[in-house]
Amino acid sequence: MNNNSIGLFDSGLGGLTVLSEIKSILPNENYIYFGDTARVPYGSKSKETIIEYSRQIISFLISKGVKLIVIACGTASSLAFDTVKDEFDVPIINVITPTAKSIKSSRIGVIATSATIKSNAWKKEILKYNSTAHVTSKACPLFVPIVEEGLVNTQVASDAINLYLKSYKNNVDSLVLGCTHYPILIDKINSYFNGKIKLVNINKACAKEVYSYLKSHKLFNDSKKEGSMVAYTTDSTVTFKKNAKKFCNCSFKAIKKVSL
Ligand code: DGL
Repeated sequence: MNNNSIGLFDSGLGGLTVLSEIKSILPNENYIYFGDTARVPYGSKSKETIIEYSRQIISFLISKGVKLIVIACGTASSLAFDTVKDEFDVPIINVITPTAKSIKSSRIGVIATSATIKSNAWKKEILKYNSTAHVTSKACPLFVPIVEEGLVNTQVASDAINLYLKSYKNNVDSLVLGCTHYPILIDKINSYFNGKIKLVNINKACAKEVYSYLKSHKLFNDSKKEGSMVAYTTDSTVTFKKNAKKFCNCSFKAIKKVSL
């Protein structure tokens, strides 16, 4: 048993969708969420920058005594995970590997930020576990700002979905939403495909992986009470609190601003 917190981080608020999924199956754990809102988006930044930001945030979370870190960001998972995973003494889980291991379709589409798609990380990871799969991918750079700006139920979102996803209409069995902001668009994308394509929410497989890891390493929190959640952000705590509601129904014990 280990009652220390689970640490999660994202470039901004998208990782709250991962937190929400993990909390739904591990309600008694304590969580520390780090949203790097002053430096969002990561999706248009270089690999070197994303590795450096990830190192800074992981060091910060370790200074808070976390027992496990979840990279709740598709972009940092794609570009930084391989480099940082062995640099620290705390176990680190990313959002790509758990989905890549579990996906069984033969024609798989992946949508994500430009940096993630350019890295080819999804394709490499899926082929490791499913070598005959046909994997195609597409960067959808407008999806993150649409979600961040609260434009999901507008014509702007419908137009962007049509622009990016029309080539997938008859081409794939499964479409992986490879960015932690995208679950907010899942209903809209599902209607676009009339429910005919299986949409893969990467947070579900990630949450299961966290559960299995804690179980196999005997790291569960043994408290019988609901755990606490604390957030750190690099920009305004007021904006964080206001916008966080769009991403999860999380009630934070404290939201604190830090600079790294
Ligand atoms: N949430 C990030 C991800 O999963 C995307 C946002 C960004 O570009 O920073 O890739």
